[in-house]
Parts: sequence; C-alpha cells; structure tokens
Amino acid sequence: MAGASLVLLFFTSAISIFLPLISAQFFSHREPTANLSTVWTINPPLSPNLTYPDGSAVFPLLIRGSSGPSFSFGFYCTPPCNAFLLSIFIVNTNRLSEITLNSSDLPQVVWSANRNLLVGLNATALFSANGDLILRDANGIAVWSTNTSGHGADTLTLTDSGNLLILDPDRRNIWASFDHPTDSLLLGQSLKEGHRLTANSSATNTTSGQLYITVLDGGLAAFVDSSPPQLYFSNGFTNPPNISAVFVTFNNGSLDIFALFSQPGVPDMYIALPSSSSHQYLRFEDDGHLKLYGWSGGWKFLKDVLDVFPDDCAYPTVCGQYGICLNGQCSCPQAANGDSSFFKPVNPLQINLGCRVSTPISCEAAKSQQLLALTNVSYFNYLDPSTASIEDIDTESCKQACLRNCSCKAALFQYGPNASSGSCYLPSQIFSLMSNRPDITHYNSSAFLKVQTPISNPPPPLGAFPEATPGSRSWRKKLVIGLLVGFILAGLLLMFIILCARRRRRGEKLEEEDKFDEVPGMVCRYSYEELKSATKNFEEKLGQGGFGTVFKGTLSNGVDIAVKRLDDTGEGKEQFLAEVETIGSVHHINLVSLIGFCVEKSHKLLVLEYIPNGSLDTWIFGEKATALDWKTRQNIIFDIAKGLSYLHEECRQKIAHLDIKPQNILLDQNFNAKVGDFGLAKLIDRDQSEIMTRMRGTPGYLAPEWLTSIITEKADVYSFGVVVLEVICGRKNLVPSQLEEAGYLIALVQEKLKDNLLEDLFDKHCGDMEAHKEEALETMRLAIWCLQIDSSRRPSMSTVVKVLEGSSDVHFDIDSDLLVGSGPFM
Ligand SMILES: *[C@@H]1O[C@H](CO)[C@@H](O)[C@H](O)[C@H]1NC(C)=O
Ligand SMILES: *[C@@H]1O[C@H](CO)[C@@H](O)[C@H](O)[C@H]1NC(C)=O
Ligand SMILES: *[C@@H]1O[C@H](CO)[C@@H](O)[C@H](O)[C@H]1NC(C)=O
Ligand SMILES: *[C@@H]1O[C@H](CO)[C@@H](O)[C@H](O)[C@H]1NC(C)=O
Ligand SMILES: *[C@@H]1O[C@H](CO)[C@@H](O)[C@H](O)[C@H]1NC(C)=O
Ligand SMILES: *[C@@H]1O[C@H](CO)[C@@H](O)[C@H](O)[C@H]1NC(C)=O
Ligand SMILES: *[C@@H]1O[C@H](CO)[C@@H](O)[C@H](O)[C@H]1NC(C)=O
Ligand SMILES: *[C@@H]1O[C@H](CO)[C@@H](O)[C@H](O)[C@H]1NC(C)=O
Ligand SMILES: *[C@@H]1O[C@H](CO)[C@@H](O)[C@H](O)[C@H]1NC(C)=O
Ligand SMILES: *[C@@H]1O[C@H](CO)[C@@H](O)[C@H](O)[C@H]1NC(C)=O
Ligand SMILES: *[C@@H]1O[C@H](CO)[C@@H](O)[C@H](O)[C@H]1NC(C)=O
Ligand SMILES: *[C@@H]1O[C@H](CO)[C@@H](O)[C@H](O)[C@H]1NC(C)=O
Repeated sequence: MAGASLVLLFFTSAISIFLPLISAQFFSHREPTANLSTVWTINPPLSPNLTYPDGSAVFPLLIRGSSGPSFSFGFYCTPPCNAFLLSIFIVNTNRLSEITLNSSDLPQVVWSANRNLLVGLNATALFSANGDLILRDANGIAVWSTNTSGHGADTLTLTDSGNLLILDPDRRNIWASFDHPTDSLLLGQSLKEGHRLTANSSATNTTSGQLYITVLDGGLAAFVDSSPPQLYFSNGFTNPPNISAVFVTFNNGSLDIFALFSQPGVPDMYIALPSSSSHQYLRFEDDGHLKLYGWSGGWKFLKDVLDVFPDDCAYPTVCGQYGICLNGQCSCPQAANGDSSFFKPVNPLQINLGCRVSTPISCEAAKSQQLLALTNVSYFNYLDPSTASIEDIDTESCKQACLRNCSCKAALFQYGPNASSGSCYLPSQIFSLMSNRPDITHYNSSAFLKVQTPISNPPPPLGAFPEATPGSRSWRKKLVIGLLVGFILAGLLLMFIILCARRRRRGEKLEEEDKFDEVPGMVCRYSYEELKSATKNFEEKLGQGGFGTVFKGTLSNGVDIAVKRLDDTGEGKEQFLAEVETIGSVHHINLVSLIGFCVEKSHKLLVLEYIPNGSLDTWIFGEKATALDWKTRQNIIFDIAKGLSYLHEECRQKIAHLDIKPQNILLDQNFNAKVGDFGLAKLIDRDQSEIMTRMRGTPGYLAPEWLTSIITEKADVYSFGVVVLEVICGRKNLVPSQLEEAGYLIALVQEKLKDNLLEDLFDKHCGDMEAHKEEALETMRLAIWCLQIDSSRRPSMSTVVKVLEGSSDVHFDIDSDLLVGSGPFM
C-alpha cells in the first residue's frame, strides 16, 4: 500500500501536466442536480477524487459552477481518510492544476449531514425512488436521512448559494440544507428561531461540541452547554416589551437581525461585516469565535464577529475548565497564601486545557468542603439576564448559598461600590475564569471555588467541623444525626422563608395600592372616563413608546394633553409607579411635565404635557429634515444637555434616563427641546451606581458598559453623544440598510476624525451648517468626547452644558481609538 502510494506520488509529480485534463473531465461530468433513484457509493467507482496537500480529500457528487470556488455536495475526509462526512463544501474548480498542490485551496466544509457519526468505505448516499435522501453505512444501516419520503419529491439540487434542496415537480421546496445549519452560515442564509450553529468539539473532530449560537430575544446569543446553559455573548437588548428577534440573516456586508415586528427587509439591528466580492462564509469555531472567511484567490480570514467583553479572556473555553485567563495567559487557581494544592492542570504542558480539582467534590462529604477565595477574578456570563443570579445580596450570603447547594461549584460575586449589595451567581459547572480589571469593567468581582478537603487531612479551620476518623462507627453515627438535624433545620428554615416571603408579598401589595393615592399633590388623579372622553375614546395616536401608546387629548378646561396608555403587563405596572413617582417630582423647562395619572382596575394612564412639534427624529431623519437650521439644531442640543444635567445632578434624587434617543426628545412650538419618556428611568441614589440586571434602551444608543452590568448616568452621556452626532449629520447612527457604505455613523466619525475631515459628515440638508463650520465641528468633538468606551472619561452633563454655554473652555482630549469600534453596540 505504502509502495503503491509512493509510486503514485512519483507518477503524479512526473506527469502532473496531465492532471488538469483528468480533473477537468471529471468536473465536466458532475451535475448540480440529481434525479430520483440515484445511488453513490464511496469506493473505487467514485474515483477519481481530489486529494489535497494536507491529506484531506473530497468526492464531489454534485457540483454547481465550473470556474473558481464552487459549491459541491459530496463526501469529505481528513487523513487517514477512512471515515467520511457527507457534506457541502466549497472547492476551487478553476486552477485545476494547482488543486493538488496549493494549500490555500483547501475545500471548506460549510454543512454536513453526519458530523456525529462518520461513515466508512462502501457507505452509500441514496436519493431514493420515494424522494428520501439517505446515508447508509456499509452494513446498510441508515445513519442519516432527510425523512422526506412520500412528499412527492422529484429532484435533488444544489443552488448557486450552496443550499441543497429537495424539490417537487413544481419546484417547491420540500427540504433545504439552509434550514438545518451545522456550524456555518452562507451568504443569504438565515439562522431562525430554534436553529443552532454548533461548533466542532475540536479543530480536528467534527463531533458537535459544547458551544452553540442561537437566536434569542433581542439577537444573537452564544452559549456553552451545561445545565443550565451559560451565556457568554449576546448582542441583544430587551427593549420591552415587543422586541424579540426571530431571525438573523447573513448578507453581503452585514449580519442582519430581524425582530418580530420588523418592517419586511429592514433589520432592527445589524453587525457590519466587510462586503464580499466573491464567496464568503461564517463559521462558528471550536474556540467560541464566529469567524468570517472570504475568497480572494485563496481563503482568507476576514473578521471575528463576536466581540466579547472585555477581551478574549471572556470566551468560556479559552483556558479550559477552572483556568484563569489574564491577557490570554492561563493559570490554575491558587489560594491567597500561594497554596496551589487544590487545583492541578489537566496537562502541565498545555495549561490552556484547563485545571481540575485535586480531590473530586463529593456531595456525601459536604462538610469537608470549603470555598477557595479568589479576589479580583470574574466570570464571563454575568451579562445573562436569565441566569438565576441572586441580586442585592452580600458576599457572605452568596458563599453560604453555594455551600448549601450540592450542585453549586462556585459562588461568583460581582458588586459595585458597595460590597454588601452585589449579584451572586452559582453555576454547576465552571468554565474559564478571568482576572477582573475594575478600571475597564467598572465592577468588582470575587470568585469562591468549591473545593473538597481530602478526608485524610484534618480539615482546615475554615471548614471547621468536629474531628472524626473516617470509617469509624461513631463518625458515621454523627454524620447520620448531623444529616437528620440538618434536614429538620433546613425544613424549618424553608418554612420560615416561605412565610416571610408571603408576608412580604402581601405587604408590598398593600403598599403599592397606597402609593397610588400618595402621589405628590401637584399631580392630579383622573378617572378613566375623564381621560376616555378627553382623548375622544383614544382616537388620535401620537406615538408608541416603551410600555405604551400615546394619544392626543384635550381636558375640559381646554388644555391639550398627551395621554400615555400603558400596556397591561406586570412590568408595566412597576414602570407605571416609577414613572408617576419620577416624573411627578421633576420639573424643568427641558423635561416633559407630568400633569396627572389614572389608575383604575387594569387601566394605567399618564397625563403629560402636550408638545406640539412632535419628536426630534421626524425633524432630523424624516422628510421635514430640511426645516432645521444650524441655530435651531444647536439650541436643541443645548436643551437636551440642560434637561439631562438637571436629571443627573440637580434634582433631589439622581435620575438616569437610560433611553435617550431622538424619539424621546420632543419639540415645542418654538423648537425648544424637552426630554420625555422616563419610562425606562431608573433612579440612582447619589454617589452610588446601580447594578442593572437587564439590558434596557434602544440599539444604536446603548453605551458599551451595558455589557458589564454596572450602569451609571454616564450611559446617558454616551447616548447624548450619539444624538448630537445624529442631529449634526442628519442620519441615524444605526442605519438598517444595505445601501449604506458604512452602517454605523460612529464608525464613520472615527474614520473622518483620523483624517481630520469631520465636516464631510455634516447634514447636507442643513443649508447654513457650512457657514458655522467651526461651531459645528466643536460640537461634534464634544459629542465624540461623550462617546468614549471608558465611561469615567466621559464628561458629566453639567460639564457639557458649561462647554456649550462657552463658560468653560475644557480641553478635550479625544483619541479616536478610545471609541467603540464597529460592533454590535454601536
Ligand atoms: C433527470 O431526468 C431528466 C428527465 O426527466 C433528464 O433530462 C436528465 O438528464 C436527468 N438527469 C440526470 C442527472 O440523470
Ligand atoms: C483517490 O482516487 C485514487 C484513484 O484515482 C485512489 O488511488 C485514492 O486512494 C483515492 N483517494 C482516497 C482518499 O480515496
Ligand atoms: C467494499 O466493497 C468492496 C467490493 O465492492 C469489498 O471488496 C471491500 O472489502 C468493501 N470494503 C469494506 C470496508 O467493506
Ligand atoms: C429523521 O427521522 C429520524 C427518526 O425519526 C430522526 O432521528 C432524524 O433526526 C430525522 N432526520 C432529520 C434530518 O430530521
Ligand atoms: C471527537 O469528540 C467526541 C466527543 O468529544 C469523542 O467522543 C470522540 O472520540 C472524538 N473523536 C476523535 C476521532 O477524536
Ligand atoms: C406587542 O405584541 C403583541 C403581540 O404579541 C401585540 O398585540 C401588541 O400590540 C404589541 N405591543 C406593542 C406596544 O407593539
Ligand atoms: C457585495 O456588495 C458590494 C458593495 O457593497 C459589491 O461591490 C459586491 O459585488 C457585492 N458582492 C456580491 C457577491 O454580491
Ligand atoms: C470541523 O471539523 C472538520 C473536520 O475535521 C474540519 O474540516 C472543519 O474545519 C472543522 N470546523 C471548525 C469550525 O473547526
Ligand atoms: C497558492 O495560492 C496562493 C494564492 O493564490 C499563491 O500566492 C501561492 O503562490 C500558491 N502556492 C503555490 C505553491 O502555488
Ligand atoms: C451598602 O448597602 C447596604 C444594603 O443595601 C446598606 O445597608 C449600606 O448602608 C450600604 N453602605 C454604603 C457605604 O453605602
Ligand atoms: C442548586 O444549584 C443549581 C445550579 O447550580 C440550581 O439549578 C438548583 O436550583 C439549586 N438548588 C437549590 C435547591 O437551590
Ligand atoms: C485586579 O487585577 C488587575 C489586573 O488584572 C490589577 O491591575 C488590579 O490592581 C487588581 N485589583 C485589586 C483590587 O486587586
């Protein structure tokens, strides 16, 4: 055999000039389509095949295209080529003479049927007489099937875009490989609800691994499978209540995210990608990265699509289980005193494969468990609003909660300035940990890893429990008694907790009802009937905001009002209370005033000041865009700044708005701007930031720290910066249109800033902006100053006001590299 291949090798190189001929003939014999009752067997009849320099080979059954990279459906194998994958791959049919020589031409597998169960020689692929596509191993056992028999199938065809279809005589789809993605997406392919891209278990093993990407509320989400799964990336946002992503489509130039109520063809959000001149594919790889590859004479890596926060250490498998990642370097956990006996590397020569506990954790010996404290260590999944993390808890309670639960493997505690109120996460499996950098993440974090004290050693004082000789009767007796007492105590505790919780809930209910009557006297309470007639039975709709719809109305005294009718959801109620309390107590010329409210049965309404000119977006993006001159735009920016400054710094309680966008800025008859819709407002006690557990706000305006959980009013400063750029440039930051050269305004601004050509971006509709070029540029620079990733570098709103007034001549130190690069959050 070895001799034969040597001879073959010699033969091949000696007469390689003939190979093109053979290959060309071979390709010309391949069709993109097959009829019913077609059988292919992997054995000599399938030869000639194509073997590549790395030893991999393909056996094309169908090929679409005859020049350059082309899609093919067939068998694929890697050395030693005794196991085969029925798959769709891209092969270069062009430079046939080079195919056996050039490694940049390696076939790229983009879909496969049997990744978890490869087939051997003599396996058959059959497009049966009744329309089923079946893969059988040599022994005749079906390994995989499309299950399409009896649906009237007629042809099997591979399309130009790489989609393998089973069609009926009317060319209707019965089955499509695009609906069964494996680890890759092709141009035009969508990842729909319920679909997953699952990575290989390793670079050389096609078996599905633990990492997967799926489409969830708000966008793309990447998980490591565990029970329950742990989220490590999400570009989503939960803009309540109705944004729920349903599919993500890979298009030329962008990965588009569509929600339930998207206009057809217009994505709600997208991730910009380099556009393609030829073939491209996205592949979800075994390290958890989603990578874009493109063809330009050979395959090239183009972009890593998932931007995890804060850096690559936030990939769940980067340092294996229990490994701690710091600047890409892995290490095993050690006690503060340097004791490294609790964890050992899985492979001392490859620390990135992770670490294991020296003594397995045993639920039976729960008493000899203790927690190894690692300060300044965090975990990747904090951004998951759905994880059952416990909020508003102190370190000690978090640790105790882990010690009490057998399946908990660590207590991960994350907190803001006040360590007695943090969030606590108790995972049942530990993937890579990371060294925390509070200067970047804006939170503090500690990890307490559960370890088992070896039974033979006396347990250290931390896990103190009565000394006992293992195996001795008295020890067992004590254990049994201990367990019994433990159970009884736990039972009592549970009853106590339940009783308390009930009482508390009841208390809260009463309190809530009372609150409705205690709203500050300046705010009037209206009956539902009054408002119904004021709005002529909710006839004229002004807009749709977070949690409700806004209608125009007129009170009996002739005053025009805007009535916001809240959707009746549990959340809406909380929100309603927040709105009444917040808006009711805040009065400022640049903030929309609350006149009154109504609460009756399920009806919850807010009565707001009516602002005649509507919201800012219609004036800067809509058809009316030409109407606003530079002075007006400048005043609007100044008004927004004053409104926000008041919210942040001047009113009794610090208030972060958290959903600043042009839709929430209203203009009165004189084009004075008023910040409205405190629907998402979250009160922040002075000198204390708030740990948010849910993402809120609107894509395009979200500050990058939404990923980190710690949100301060500086998130508004960021959104303000976005709005200012939009007002000056007359376009949205996030333009969901493929015609746009660059999807993100901020990315463009970043480019132009480097080239010192910011004026290129001025709104062409604004006739006199050129005449005020210096002012406009200065305002843009101020906006850029507000957009820095590091929220602590952003100015406060009062500083912004001073700069706009001209009463402060702050030197802003702007560096375009400090801005968020093109990414999902822009
Ligand atoms: C499939 O059948 C059609 C006629 O029904 C025939 O024209 C065509 O050549 C067949 N294709 C193959 C690949 O045999
Ligand atoms: C490819 O085909 C040649 C004969 O054309 C055969 O000798 C070789 O073993 C085949 N390669 C594989 C991987 O089956
Ligand atoms: C494949 O089939 C051929 C006959 O067609 C037979 O000689 C060979 O042993 C078979 N190989 C395997 C692995 O079943
Ligand atoms: C076909 O049906 C079998 C048995 O019901 C199932 O295991 C398999 O996943 C199905 N195949 C596909 C591609 O859905
Ligand atoms: C591939 O990975 C799976 C699961 O991780 C494992 O069971 C299998 O043995 C691996 N196969 C090879 C060839 O290494
Ligand atoms: C939210 O979605 C429901 C359907 O799921 C729809 O009836 C309702 O009108 C939507 N609300 C808003 C505010 O869009
Ligand atoms: C992708 O879009 C660019 C322009 O944005 C265009 O030049 C290119 O031809 C397109 N590629 C394909 C494959 O359509
Ligand atoms: C998955 O494994 C196959 C076979 O080894 C390989 O061709 C492919 O490139 C791998 N995919 C990834 C994403 O690593
Ligand atoms: C392989 O292809 C690349 C890209 O076209 C080319 O630069 C390189 O010279 C080729 N290598 C060989 C050995 O032909
Ligand atoms: C920290 O939070 C706790 C509970 O929320 C509170 O009792 C305590 O006063 C706070 N400490 C500081 C310094 O704010
Ligand atoms: C124990 O922790 C696991 C996850 O770590 C969780 O799913 C389970 O609900 C917890 N059990 C109790 C009783 O809290
Ligand atoms: C946390 O770790 C970072 C480096 O990752 C270090 O710069 C910082 O000083 C540490 N902070 C504390 C409180 O130990």
